Amino acid sequence: MHISTIIASTLFTATVFGHGNITSPPARQPGPAMAKVCGAAAVSAIMADGTGPLEGIQSNGSPQCNIGLCKGAQFADNKALVQKYAPGQVVQMTAVLPIPHEGPCNISVVNTKTNTIMETMLVFDSYADENLAVLPPNNTNFAVTMPTDLGTACSVAGACVMQWFWFGTAAQQTYENCVDFVM
Ligand SMILES: *[C@@H]1O[C@H](CO)[C@@H](O)[C@H](O)[C@H]1NC(C)=O
Ligand SMILES: *[C@@H]1O[C@H](CO)[C@@H](O)[C@H](O)[C@H]1NC(C)=O
Ligand SMILES: *[C@@H]1O[C@H](CO)[C@@H](O)[C@H](O)[C@H]1NC(C)=O
Repeated sequence: MHISTIIASTLFTATVFGHGNITSPPARQPGPAMAKVCGAAAVSAIMADGTGPLEGIQSNGSPQCNIGLCKGAQFADNKALVQKYAPGQVVQMTAVLPIPHEGPCNISVVNTKTNTIMETMLVFDSYADENLAVLPPNNTNFAVTMPTDLGTACSVAGACVMQWFWFGTAAQQTYENCVDFVM
């Protein structure tokens, strides 16, 4: 292939096709607060393709910006999207996977202050396997049971998110979405 064709098709792939994201419950979106923290380019990258990997999002290098936490999306831009759950509640989730990349996936409650997992509710050892003729229905439609032992740790909006995390092993690409919730 001619080099310019390779570059053109790479660009085409990067800008036109998405890979995957959470469609329900509503997940954090980029906005003005994220632009302030991470830079306008990071916001533009997500606006151009909300299903792209973290590796395609350029941070402005500010220590306040962590693309690895919720793709850099900030609570301040998402106050209207906070879900309310009860301990033990079963929450139905849906995802789209336009371009699957086989690898592990999990859904966890993450402490946003420390960026640490408090509890992992669901684990797929092998998710989004592009070698399968059809993806298992549970890749795009699944349920998680909210933890019962978090006490008041998630009682204030913004303190905790439900994180969908997927890593395409061969692709070396990370996908992430965060659902803000109180419990
Ligand atoms: C998922 O990607 C679509 C297409 O880019 C975008 O419209 C939507 O806002 C994204 N959703 C999330 C939660 O990122
Ligand atoms: C879940 O995903 C996280 C990334 O946020 C990873 O560090 C962790 O090892 C995964 N846990 C399991 C049990 O798969
Ligand atoms: C998803 O479905 C597949 C195929 O039925 C099954 O092997 C796998 O264990 C399921 N994974 C989860 C996390 O429920």
